[in-house]
Amino acid sequence: MKPIDVLLLSRADVMALDLTTAEVIDVVTGALREHAAGTYEMHPKIGVHPTGTDPANFIHAMPAYLHGLGACGLKWVAGFAQNHRRDLPNVTGLQVYNDTETGIPLAIMECGYLTGLRTAAVSAIAATHGAPADARTLALVGCGFEGTMHVRFITHVLPSIREVRLRDIRAEAMTRLAREAAASFPGAIIPCGDNASCLAGADVIATCTNGDDQVVDLDSFKPGAFAVGIEGGCAYTAEALHAAEKFIVDDVALAEYFDRIGRERLTADGRPDPEFPGGMPPVYATIGELVAGKKPGREAATERIIAVPIGMAICDVALAHLAYARALDRGIGQRFRLQ
Ligand SMILES: NC(=O)c1ccc[n+]([C@@H]2O[C@H](COP(=O)([O-])OP(=O)(O)OC[C@H]3O[C@@H](n4cnc5c(N)ncnc54)[C@H](O)[C@@H]3O)[C@@H](O)[C@H]2O)c1
Repeated sequence: MKPIDVLLLSRADVMALDLTTAEVIDVVTGALREHAAGTYEMHPKIGVHPTGTDPANFIHAMPAYLHGLGACGLKWVAGFAQNHRRDLPNVTGLQVYNDTETGIPLAIMECGYLTGLRTAAVSAIAATHGAPADARTLALVGCGFEGTMHVRFITHVLPSIREVRLRDIRAEAMTRLAREAAASFPGAIIPCGDNASCLAGADVIATCTNGDDQVVDLDSFKPGAFAVGIEGGCAYTAEALHAAEKFIVDDVALAEYFDRIGRERLTADGRPDPEFPGGMPPVYATIGELVAGKKPGREAATERIIAVPIGMAICDVALAHLAYARALDRGIGQRFRLQ
């Protein structure tokens, strides 16, 4: 039998691929188009929940197949929000990338960095359809890894932004992100002492927290603003969440699944911990439908629009497809003889 070699890519290898913001947006846009066209296979994330350090801990299995791109694989990804106490990332795991003709695993790659790229790309793509024209201010709450990626991607797609305000309960996370963002963003970068001063009057809001606190209330979410939350809807008060004229998700089945799980979940001190405070609002559109032009994004200057992308495996596998091709091209990674 022929030998099978699997390409192994560490986080350093994945970063060395130098995937640009524009090419990540391009490949993720393609996946969103396929989502709208229905040319994919994906299932709501199944997982296990070792909740010792935090009731919200999860390890999810995320298989996906994109017919048009010809890409398939599986992400096995953990989210452990207390990992920063051990100097470890919150999101860690593996992306397996398979051959669609033979099924053999072609590559296994570190998935945390790619997850950051794809999540910020999805939020940025949603922002291009939902943000006000000529948006000037981005307020970011949660300055960890995802927050860092969100500043990079949202300022890329919305070049009218002149001011980025940062808020984190950890001052060092704000300081680090302010320093890092200054290298590529020419406008003002303002670390804020509280949520209200960060969010006040912002045109675009991005929340990348661990979802433990409802950081965006109705006063902070002005008419005409666009908000994206990657921690489900749990960073928003029920009033803010339900004030949006348009509620957008990446995948309705995924959002409904998370809504169902959230209704059964309790915090460490036994309080209800819903994914969507006040219940899941009616879905106006998926991000793919906006991308494909099946539904309009922003139609009025005063609309509040919220996007909650839960995180789709089809976007991961699209990015893995790009990463694998780039790694072969540049000779990056190690070979592992599977048989
Ligand atoms: N929707 C998706 O596709 C997707 C993908 C990846 C990660 N996530 C989620 O995104 C979130 C962030 O992930 P990460 O890898 O950046 O984690 P991270 O731990 O690196 O960053 C989270 C940051 O939020 C800050 N924070 C927590 N509570 C806060 C509060 N009340 N106010 C201000 N800041 C607060 C923390 O101090 C930390 O700096 C997690 O909840 C993760 O599960 C979602």
